[in-house]
Amino acid sequence: MAGRVPNASAGVTSHWEFLKAFVRARRTIGAVAPTSRGVARRIVRLAGAETAHLIAEFGPGTGVITQELLAALPADGRLWAFEVYQPFVEHLRATVDDGRLTLLAESAEGIAGLREREDLPGFDAVVSAIPFSLMDPAQTAEILRAAARALRPGGAFVALQYHPRYLTPLLRAEFAVVEREIYLWNVPPALLLRARDPRPTG
Ligand SMILES: C[S@@+](CC[C@H](N)C(=O)[O-])C[C@H]1O[C@@H](n2cnc3c(N)ncnc32)[C@H](O)[C@@H]1O
Repeated sequence: MAGRVPNASAGVTSHWEFLKAFVRARRTIGAVAPTSRGVARRIVRLAGAETAHLIAEFGPGTGVITQELLAALPADGRLWAFEVYQPFVEHLRATVDDGRLTLLAESAEGIAGLREREDLPGFDAVVSAIPFSLMDPAQTAEILRAAARALRPGGAFVALQYHPRYLTPLLRAEFAVVEREIYLWNVPPALLLRARDPRPTG
């Protein structure tokens, strides 16, 4: 059954969960508050979720982008989400009731094994909000490569970042096309990146 975070108190809970998470695991969480709904909706548009069959999400957190993806995704679409912070996994299990979502308590590079394990076609889009600039560079490279290989031809990798420069050159190493836009109506302003056409493996 499709479901959304139902009321304002769920939003307050989500902000509180987020702040606690940031205090406990700053480098994993990377932000003090959930993404604004405006940014989440823009990400959904960039990912083309309205016409997608298969989307992956890296770092759903308390589910702001997840909820907007599910609201846009067709009834027969599927969303696979990777989250490493266990309290967020539990929060999502308690608040999102939607049979199209499969939540995996594992790190984003797990997308490499997922397709084979589940016999999935290529993803229409991979959406990421994980804080790459705070992570081990080798892990970032592995995740970007795995995401690029998991896309169907024409699929897009869409990333939300707050660091203005870190990710762009790393994406250009993996993808032939990288588009950038700044979403100003968010505090702080958010950098949205969309990458397509993965470069052939060397
Ligand atoms: C900035 S928060 C974004 C949360 C949510 N998507 C939002 O926009 O409000 C980053 C999220 O990425 C998760 N994360 C960090 N590293 C990850 C990894 N390697 N794989 C999957 N999730 C990860 C964190 O636990 C956190 O939930």
